[in-house]
Amino acid sequence: MAEQQLPKSVRIVEVGPRDGLQNEKGVISTDVKLQLIDKLADAGVAYIESASFVSPKWVPQMGDATEVITGLNRKSGVTYAALTPNLKGLESAIAAGVDEVAVFGAASEAFSQKNINCSIAESLERFAPVMELAKANNLKVRGYVSCVLGCPYEGDIAPEKVAEVAKTLYEMGCYEISLGDTIGVGTPLKAKAMIREVAKVVPVEKLAAHFHDTYGQALANIYAVLEEGVAVVDSSVGGLGGCPYAKGASGNVATEDVVYMLQGLGIETGIDLNKLVATGNFITEAIGSTNRSRVGLAMSS
Ligand code: HMG
Ligand code: MG
Repeated sequence: MAEQQLPKSVRIVEVGPRDGLQNEKGVISTDVKLQLIDKLADAGVAYIESASFVSPKWVPQMGDATEVITGLNRKSGVTYAALTPNLKGLESAIAAGVDEVAVFGAASEAFSQKNINCSIAESLERFAPVMELAKANNLKVRGYVSCVLGCPYEGDIAPEKVAEVAKTLYEMGCYEISLGDTIGVGTPLKAKAMIREVAKVVPVEKLAAHFHDTYGQALANIYAVLEEGVAVVDSSVGGLGGCPYAKGASGNVATEDVVYMLQGLGIETGIDLNKLVATGNFITEAIGSTNRSRVGLAMSS
């Protein structure tokens, strides 16, 4: 039976407070962000990417990263993480007291330039001292690779390129590599082929799937990569999100939809779906955005 090939449990990496909110234009108060994070933790989400220590000129919405991390009402067993693109970001993240950090590179040269203002090679060089300082502070580092199934500027991306960047990040000490379909153009067989290529150089249990749902393919892609052995899924409550440097990219796959699908497959997540749906309603109402979780809408009607 197909189910036997699927993982028994999946770890959800909730990226709503970061990826979900980073592209929102309106002012979102630190208090609303903190309420969101609290509700996610209360729903049983054990890993919450809570902020991003990037340049506020580049991503104004994440400008209160320090206030968010220092204001957390920490729940035991929950990891509160943040993005740190460079040493400056990491130093601020350490000062604020994050549990874990993430660096983010890309499989596309053009996207790397637009998103972090440097080439792929330069970005990897820039991450080396970040890895070092993180290690000296006993902080685990997650590594992202963006544009793994397509780039808004370059179009198709070769799976070999994704594997090369993923391997470098893994060898630099990232404990997990999150593979991002930043613009949500992937389809299931392409997603499988990409995972197979990366799994040749990074153990599949060290890989995470990060799908945006721009073309409505995210759940199908997740199912496809679960069959390849991936057991970590990034998602965003309410389906919020988008990258400011990837025009047209819509939100991450909705956490509610992922959890509903996993429950149907008999796969454990440790998350209370009713509380999660309430959280999706809370944040989309609080920021005046559309709830893009189909499960959230169905369960709230
Ligand atoms: P730069 O302009 O090349 O950097 O930007 P710089 O070192 O020349 O610094 C320029 C200014 O920014 C200076 O300030 C620095 O102090 C400041 P000034 O002297 O002009 O007043 N600065 C900072 N301030 C706060 N925190 C910092 C920081 N670093 C520099 N960490 C940089 C390079 C990387 C900083 C910039 O390009 C940047 O912040 N980019 C972030 C873009 C971003 O956040 N994108 C979204 C996240 S990635 C994503 O969404 C994809 C993902 O979800 C996966 C997927 O979907 O595929 C992860
Ligand atoms: Mg993303």
